[in-house]
Amino acid sequence: MRHEVIEKSLNLMIVLIVLAISIGGLVEIVPLMFSADTTEPAENIEPYSPLRLAGRDVYVREGCYNCHSQMIRPFRSETERYGPFTTAGETVYDRPFQFGSKRTGPDLARVGGRYSDDWQRLHLMDPRALVPESNMPGYPWLAEREVDADFVTAKLEVLQLLGDGYSDEQIAAAAAEVEGKTELDALVAYLQELGTNRKVRR
Ligand code: HEC
Repeated sequence: MRHEVIEKSLNLMIVLIVLAISIGGLVEIVPLMFSADTTEPAENIEPYSPLRLAGRDVYVREGCYNCHSQMIRPFRSETERYGPFTTAGETVYDRPFQFGSKRTGPDLARVGGRYSDDWQRLHLMDPRALVPESNMPGYPWLAEREVDADFVTAKLEVLQLLGDGYSDEQIAAAAAEVEGKTELDALVAYLQELGTNRKVRR
């Protein structure tokens, strides 16, 4: 019996198991890499503007993802609370994506426009000034730090190289756009746009 041969030889068994799992994995993963749904931007989704890109980097640096997800799952309980569920095409310009899985605070995928700019600024400086029971830390130093314009320009150049569709004019104008802006301005600009350019599809 051929099967007995396999069962009695540990090495052969390991090789065949690895082979079986690899084929199974490839069949599931590889098609996604070529599917337009996951690699092409969804309708209305554009690369981040220089200021928002800077804000996104502040978000990543400060570890906001440790408490906030940016992925609305396709369940009624989620879509009722946060809005239409997240699709892959919305996140093609997120490198790395900020899906997250920890929700100490609410999901932020569609938080853009939910509050005023002033609310966002004050909340980031001192969350308990607005939400007394909040356990979110304050980030007052963001208001004192300026966005590094040269760094933003360099990042845009790299993203252009990766195919994110920034024009040379946009990159040339980037430094002027972030000039004199604080990291708080950038983060608020980023938050206020989250989920707003997505056409509502229910
Ligand atoms: C320790 C966990 C924690 C961290 C870290 C954290 N937050 Fe929060 N966040 C919360 C909690 C809890 C709430 C809900 C209470 C409140 O509004 O303050 C919240 C609320 C929010 C809200 C309002 C969301 C809504 O729909 O009402 C925004 C926006 C937000 N956080 C942004 C951020 C940003 C940006 C960062 C990083 C700079 C961050 N948070 C870091 C816990 C956290």
